[in-house]
Amino acid sequence: MSRKILITGGAGYIGSHANLELAAKGYETVVLDNLVYGHREFVQKGEFVLGDISDPACLDLVFANHDIDAVMHFAAYTYVGESVQDPGKYYANNMGGTLNLLAAMRRAGVNRFIFSSTCATYGVPQEMPLTESHPQKPINPYGWTKFMIEQALADYSAAYGMQYVALRYFNAAGADPQGRVGEDHDPETHLIPLAIEAAVDPKRELSIFGTDYDTPDGTCVRDYIHVTDLAQAHILAYEYLRDGGESQYFNLGNGLGFSVREVIDCVSRVSGRAVRAKEAPRREGDPAQLVGSSERIRSVLGWEPQYAELETIVEHAWNWRMKRA
Ligand SMILES: NC(=O)c1ccc[n+]([C@@H]2O[C@H](COP(=O)([O-])OP(=O)(O)OC[C@H]3O[C@@H](n4cnc5c(N)ncnc54)[C@H](O)[C@@H]3O)[C@@H](O)[C@H]2O)c1
Repeated sequence: MSRKILITGGAGYIGSHANLELAAKGYETVVLDNLVYGHREFVQKGEFVLGDISDPACLDLVFANHDIDAVMHFAAYTYVGESVQDPGKYYANNMGGTLNLLAAMRRAGVNRFIFSSTCATYGVPQEMPLTESHPQKPINPYGWTKFMIEQALADYSAAYGMQYVALRYFNAAGADPQGRVGEDHDPETHLIPLAIEAAVDPKRELSIFGTDYDTPDGTCVRDYIHVTDLAQAHILAYEYLRDGGESQYFNLGNGLGFSVREVIDCVSRVSGRAVRAKEAPRREGDPAQLVGSSERIRSVLGWEPQYAELETIVEHAWNWRMKRA
């Protein structure tokens, strides 16, 4: 039996891309997803297990049936706004579920863990670009759940010898360059797919939340990282741990910022269609800029984004959407 990688949440957006990239590199995978937000057809490689990270018996069976060498943990709830309205849902799944997964890993003697963390653990940015040494002070329950798991991982590493890499993603975007999988959230809250829907359906209108920020065109600036580049970083993180690397946390972004208006213009250019957009008031808790420095992951893991151009990110997302039309 060869050693495998368990991908929780592998029927979701980022996990399904990681699964394809791992398979392309010859790694065997097992995907565990409860399909609450995932899509069965997104799992195109490896074995699929319908199950929940909160179910100890299910996890024990997965670890008993497969020789798992590492876990890539994508499964979580991800809506920041909902986490403010219903924090219990987020603490139960993102924290409780993850602690349950870590306990099952300990029972099975599996101790390599790659964690989907987020730039939301930083809270209000005090400097730009954000580096890993920026204080972590989340401003919503979603960010807290990720921050607390980072803390648990540091403690588990010290006490139990767990090896982990926590990747603090900025905005995942784009789609598989071959168009096999892409972004399909319901509800969708991310700018690029929303702008694409507005390009597809002229009746739709996009809201630009805040046009008076201290940025070049007054709209918020974010760091968009291609989902395939993100998937590649997971493979590098796994290989780093497998080769004896010390537990680490890294920012994972492009290091480039694009404003809401730049993204809308880009979607319009790539699609050749108009994107209707209306100006709306600022949203609470939205910082003017969120751009990450990825210097550390570049120097320690040798990661380099292959698809850093916004145009390419949008093109891949658009191609994926057209394929499904
Ligand atoms: N998308 C982004 O820009 C972004 C940014 C920062 C961090 N992240 C993190 O990356 C990870 C993946 O994000 P995504 O955009 O692919 O989300 P997603 O919702 O597309 O994927 C998450 C998957 O996890 C599954 N899942 C949720 N709870 C589960 C449970 N209890 N048991 C089994 N499966 C469960 C869902 O069905 C879904 O398929 C999440 O942990 C998220 O917090 C995402």
